[in-house]
Amino acid sequence: MNEILIRGGTLVTADGRQRADLLCRDGLIAEIGEGLDAGAGTEVIDAGGCFVMPGGIDPHTHLQLPMMGTVVADDFYTGTAAAAAGGTTAIIDFVGPERDQSPLEALAIWQDWADKATIDYGFHMTVAWWGARFSEEMEALVRQHGITSFKFFLAYKGGLMLPDAEIIEGFMRCRELGALAQVHAENGELIAHLQAKAIAAGITSPLGHALSRPSICEGEATGRAIAMAEIVDVPLYVVHVSAAQAADAIRHAQGRGVKVIAETLPGFLAIDDSVYRHPDFDFAAGHVMSPPYRPREHQAALWQAVQDGTLSTTGTDHCCFTKAQKQLGEHDFRKIPNGCGGIEDRLHVLWHLGVNGGRITPEQFVALTSANAAKSFNLWPRKGRLEVGADADVIVLDPARTKTLSAASQYQNTDFSVWEGMQVQGVVMHTVSRGAHLWADGDLRSEPGRGRYLPRTPFGGPYQGRV
Ligand code: URP
Ligand code: ZN
Ligand code: ZN
Repeated sequence: MNEILIRGGTLVTADGRQRADLLCRDGLIAEIGEGLDAGAGTEVIDAGGCFVMPGGIDPHTHLQLPMMGTVVADDFYTGTAAAAAGGTTAIIDFVGPERDQSPLEALAIWQDWADKATIDYGFHMTVAWWGARFSEEMEALVRQHGITSFKFFLAYKGGLMLPDAEIIEGFMRCRELGALAQVHAENGELIAHLQAKAIAAGITSPLGHALSRPSICEGEATGRAIAMAEIVDVPLYVVHVSAAQAADAIRHAQGRGVKVIAETLPGFLAIDDSVYRHPDFDFAAGHVMSPPYRPREHQAALWQAVQDGTLSTTGTDHCCFTKAQKQLGEHDFRKIPNGCGGIEDRLHVLWHLGVNGGRITPEQFVALTSANAAKSFNLWPRKGRLEVGADADVIVLDPARTKTLSAASQYQNTDFSVWEGMQVQGVVMHTVSRGAHLWADGDLRSEPGRGRYLPRTPFGGPYQGRV
């Protein structure tokens, strides 16, 4: 029997808080109450003065992903170990088939890679191409493999972008199978036009990335994706919302009853597009991701959308590359591998800017970092809550402790951090993942292969219990 008693903390969930001890036994939360006794052999974590919360769920990661002529720097071990060090205990990563590759075949490859994960993981499927075979295999993905969310790209012309007609067919298939449709919403045609224009004007630096992806492209594509989902009547999840126009379109749709869930990333709440004007290529290219960081005024609009519930989940879109990998685009911004890290930093940044900044409560923090993702992706009630019977995915955060985020001290497998030098207050001291104490005040005890796959039930379908 394996027991951990977390003693003397304030338990926070999305619904409220209480002073209580929490006992984890054999991977589950076994007891919650005041003055719980530790048995012989029970490990005790002193949580005095600390907040005890559900472990983070990051619903948007890309580990080990082959992309733009290279491979993401974090694999399923290094990425999930870094996640644990930052208080995240579950991820949902994207399987990315090649063009015309069977999605089931791609899933087998991802399953093999993910075998070394140290925290629990689920998968979304990228709809990298469309055709009868893809559509047919979606049934097995949903019913046999528990993949119940499919991402469609309105951007990346000549690559992942699908025409609207195929997206509509794909949305209809999602509806039929009870799956959630996800979108990367940027207008790929306009971006291709603006990229060509920037290159023709001699702009090859990372600045061209931002100039060719203005927020209007995201606003338009978000509205179009919502319209398609509304007509098809399929629930929609908009990933990585960065623009005020997109948040407005989502709020408007939600207001008239359209089923739209939307995610933002900590970076979009705090980093602005001035990073692309930085003279150091490594710095500017290190921030190249899609959508790009936006002019500062978008941040207030996004915080407002977080506060009013328009944006209800946060992910990281963790897709990190080293400086050397970003050099692939030294002479052409279109070749800079798109993506930034952050799987280790999300909770710290959101606590610091959100809770300490007076923008969100600790309860909203839990909703944004775990509970709403668990609900949106059918991991609830197993994940995202502190209740007897739930998985013992628990973190202890000390609101008084500080730490400086830096590439030099991070576990993420890269030499760059978009948060370089930021001092945060509120530090994850302990991470317990399904009852295993993976992070103990600076001591990372991750083990490759202890993470378990999280198959999910179809959207709206009955929860079928533990697997
Ligand atoms: O730039 C990004 N976001 N890279 C990862 C792929 C995606 O679009 O989510
Ligand atoms: Zn994307
Ligand atoms: Zn992504």
